[in-house]
Amino acid sequence: MCGIVAYQGPHDARQRILEGLKYLEYRGYDSWGIAVRSETGVLNRVRNTGEIGSVSMADLKLSQARDGIGHTRWATHGGVTVKNAHPHFSMNKKVVLVQNGIVENYGALKKNLEKKGYVFLSETDTEVIANTIEEYRKKHPLKEAVRRTMKDLEGRNAIVVMEQGSQEIIAARNGSPLIVGVAPHEVFIASDIPAFIAYTNTVYYLDDGQMVCVKDARPEFFSLSNGSHVARRKITVDIKAKDAEKGDYAHYMIKEIMEQKETTRRAVEQDEQQLKKVADMIDHAYGSFLVGCGSAAAVCKLGEYVFAKIGNRHINAVEASEFKHFSGFLTPRSLMIVVSQSGETADVIEAIETAKKKKVKVIGILNNTSSTIARLADYVFPIHAGPERAVASTKAVTAQYAVMTLLAYAVRGDIAEGKRLLVEVAGQMNDLLNPRYGQYVKKIAKMLVRQEHVYILGRGVNVPIAKESSIKLQEISYIHAESFAAGELKHGPLALITKKTPVIVLTGNDGDTIDIISNAKEVQARGGVIIGIGPHKHEVFDYWLHVPDVGELSYMVNVLPIQLLAYNLGILKGNNPDKPRNLAKSVTVK
Ligand code: AGP
Repeated sequence: MCGIVAYQGPHDARQRILEGLKYLEYRGYDSWGIAVRSETGVLNRVRNTGEIGSVSMADLKLSQARDGIGHTRWATHGGVTVKNAHPHFSMNKKVVLVQNGIVENYGALKKNLEKKGYVFLSETDTEVIANTIEEYRKKHPLKEAVRRTMKDLEGRNAIVVMEQGSQEIIAARNGSPLIVGVAPHEVFIASDIPAFIAYTNTVYYLDDGQMVCVKDARPEFFSLSNGSHVARRKITVDIKAKDAEKGDYAHYMIKEIMEQKETTRRAVEQDEQQLKKVADMIDHAYGSFLVGCGSAAAVCKLGEYVFAKIGNRHINAVEASEFKHFSGFLTPRSLMIVVSQSGETADVIEAIETAKKKKVKVIGILNNTSSTIARLADYVFPIHAGPERAVASTKAVTAQYAVMTLLAYAVRGDIAEGKRLLVEVAGQMNDLLNPRYGQYVKKIAKMLVRQEHVYILGRGVNVPIAKESSIKLQEISYIHAESFAAGELKHGPLALITKKTPVIVLTGNDGDTIDIISNAKEVQARGGVIIGIGPHKHEVFDYWLHVPDVGELSYMVNVLPIQLLAYNLGILKGNNPDKPRNLAKSVTVK
């Protein structure tokens, strides 16, 4: 959450930072701010509420500068106000900084500073960092003041700091991502690479417990624990600027939905030796867990089913935020399989840290292979989905389903069959990703647009797809969407059904079909309107969204009409499907 960009170099820092922040808007879009340092060392700042996407250079009202820092915010401490927007000055206005993360002990630090006479202008934890640096600065050079401050902070964060009159930019990382991009005579520091990919693909990754000092457009790296020099390796990343663009599409979400035929096919491109090795580990493991958050948690739940059905193994799926309640069951014989698009999700990182303490091997099913989680995991299966910029995860989810399925086939000892089936499904996705199908989904969206509630039912592998459907509809349409295992209906939720309540029923061509159709009839008998998704039309369907018959892998295709439905509902309701209210793409706070 929150995006940071800093720049030092011969070009206009305002332009580089503004442009970079627009690429990081997916990390938060409550408010934004930029601070630059003039040739004479004077700090100037501009901040505002709202999205940075529509801000132009003229709106900045800052004079040209060679270095600066910027921030796009997802509010944690303090409401969405200009006062709480970053960058924050220290009390004497000589230190200015941006933060991505949370200072858990900010209350205690603030009290101490207040006793020393510091006055705070915002409700944020970030202003506490700025004033702590100011306090240390009385006795230490800036770099040492930043290092000591970072050591005082509890929680996960990353900061970038400038000081009036100095020529340095200093950044430090403890739990939130920071990447340093270098081009001839210029240096960028950002929360994610797309912020500067138009200018360079040469990067240094900052690790937790490290800081970087940039002077004369040259970065030098230091340890936060003792301030000593650390060596960092320069890496060339394979990300193309155009992959992060939306091209002719109206939104990233629809572009990413449409890419799924290719991304599903790419997801099966896995290292066979590693697949076999991990399959063997799964076979011999005891007390293993699948861990993720949000849509990735629903992918983990699907993993529970596919490992049981295809691989004949029992693995527990747990939401990362709940994992600590089960961590007592970890032994060195356990495995942890984590699923994450961003690779930066705080709750997942915390679960991994717990697992590592117990000597548990960690396997990552990840999109961002240079992320924090990728570097913590012992084995990484890249899902190859390419940059996903819409907050709602679509192509990453189906790619994660594919990798999970392939891993289950590897456990069964039949990787070739898994690949064959998945490649076939990827081809059949075409039937759903075309304008004609889109038009039909739009009609259903029009029928649903005024509804306050919609329920989604599934059985077996479609239970986690029902869960994923509820997340997609909630975040894009803001309609109350809730999923149930269809068999649970008459144990309570059936009481919610009245005349014309819309209920989406996910079906396949498998052993669950007869039962779920009976459940749909029970709903219809109570006045519910049934929107069936599946390969075959059943009499009970009032509306039918046809999907190809892919046998046991119905989860791979059933989610596509839901993604399209959510997108169309979002558009009809005037929401921005790429930036759902209150959310951010990368959830780096607990
Ligand atoms: C999905 O549409 C979400 N916006 C969200 O639930 C997401 O899947 C979750 O935050 C996990 O993110 P990750 O995959 O980057 O770890």
